[in-house]
Amino acid sequence: MINVAFVCLGNICRSPMAELIFKNMIKERGLSSSFCVTSFGTSDCEQGNPIYLPAKKTLIMHGIAGNHTAKQISLSDIKNNDFILCMDSGNYRDLVRLAGESNSAKVFKLCSFTSCPRDVADPWYTRDFERAFSDITDGCAAFLEFVLSDRADMINYDKRH
Ligand code: 4NP
Repeated sequence: MINVAFVCLGNICRSPMAELIFKNMIKERGLSSSFCVTSFGTSDCEQGNPIYLPAKKTLIMHGIAGNHTAKQISLSDIKNNDFILCMDSGNYRDLVRLAGESNSAKVFKLCSFTSCPRDVADPWYTRDFERAFSDITDGCAAFLEFVLSDRADMINYDKRH
């Protein structure tokens, strides 16, 4: 099992979008049983809140449904996951500080796996939820290709797929 945690600031826009996009991607490829996928915020500012409605509507427009309740990440969450995939440089800085030297190698910016490394701009401020969806989808697809090759020994293909 490969444990993946997506992280943004509030855990109501980008990281729950990434969680549901990635879950949908691995389901379509028959890979769900190889992954445990969740999401967190670096902040507790939205703790307990559902996915922000414009983010949820964007997912639904692309045929992706699901729910999530916002939660703040802790050091034990970092220790319990194999990949901590964050959205922007601010998240990365906060996570590396929390992770410490011994755990910071598992922290990545999601779009660092793409051919065009970049931040996923926060749609809470930009209001561009389509752009966030597209950047996150690009990042998730690139991360999936990376992990299929880097952790090939840990992948179970669903034979029914
Ligand atoms: P997210 O967006 O980090 O993509 O979930 C935000 C949501 C809420 C706030 C900031 C960013 N906020 O300040 O409440």
